[in-house]
Amino acid sequence: MPAQRVAVITGGASGLGYAAARRFLSEGMRVALWDISDPNLQRATAELAQFGDVWGCQTDVSDVYSIEQAAQRTRDVFGDADTVLAAAGIAGHVLPYVDYPLSGWHDVINTNLTGVHLTCRALVPTMIASGWGRVITVSSMAGKEGNPKQIAYSSAKAAIMGFTKSLGKELAQTGVLVNGIAPTLVQSPMLDEASVLDPQAIDALRAKIPMGRLGRPEEFAALAAWLASDQCSFTTGMTFDLSGGRSTY
Ligand SMILES: NC(=O)c1ccc[n+]([C@@H]2O[C@H](COP(=O)([O-])OP(=O)(O)OC[C@H]3O[C@@H](n4cnc5c(N)ncnc54)[C@H](O)[C@@H]3O)[C@@H](O)[C@H]2O)c1
Repeated sequence: MPAQRVAVITGGASGLGYAAARRFLSEGMRVALWDISDPNLQRATAELAQFGDVWGCQTDVSDVYSIEQAAQRTRDVFGDADTVLAAAGIAGHVLPYVDYPLSGWHDVINTNLTGVHLTCRALVPTMIASGWGRVITVSSMAGKEGNPKQIAYSSAKAAIMGFTKSLGKELAQTGVLVNGIAPTLVQSPMLDEASVLDPQAIDALRAKIPMGRLGRPEEFAALAAWLASDQCSFTTGMTFDLSGGRSTY
């Protein structure tokens, strides 16, 4: 493991990525936040600076040129990243399948799935070359079970689990471990937005959680920190459950 750790967190200006950034910084890692929202990046970097060496880079993970620029700028600022947490994502429409617009499908697939691939494509080669790295993807219970009226989101999140398995096995002997987290409902701005769009759907999802509550961002961050560490040493290609007992498979 490198003495001075460098992590890239996509979607790190908000929600789960933000919580993980705070945790990584508190463990001494330098953290580059790649996020599409410049105002959120400004706010997040100002708030997180008290915990360590953080830098924000406005990036659209669905755009290969934006990613390549972000990777180069990150190298210039911090050096090569040894860890990536690919948390950028959008929920997309909550609509019946027959009404789901094709443009919405492309937006969700490009951000949530292709964004993970483009991020890894830009950062993983130097991890392999150095002989150490940690990749953490973020899927969702929606990818395991399929949320009605969220065809693109459910499809993208299921595909991320396949991506994690494939890359994990392929890199198993390189020192680069690839694992994922599949949360059910965790309190976050994305969830607040979805609650406004379809409160009944959120209530129905909450009722399925045996612990009877939503997850907390710091619970996500704790699992991400373990997956990013040397303590995680004999597991790759696995997507870990974060669901209050909802998913036992
Ligand atoms: N919160 C939950 O309940 C929950 C449950 C399951 C999975 N997830 C997943 O966790 C991840 C984080 O979600 P969150 O709840 O923290 O949401 P959030 O909306 O709080 O954060 C998502 C971040 O991604 C950024 N983003 C969106 N599109 C982007 C793009 N094209 N390029 C770069 N950044 C972009 C946003 O600006 C935002 O800062 C997502 O992948 C989401 O699907 C969340």
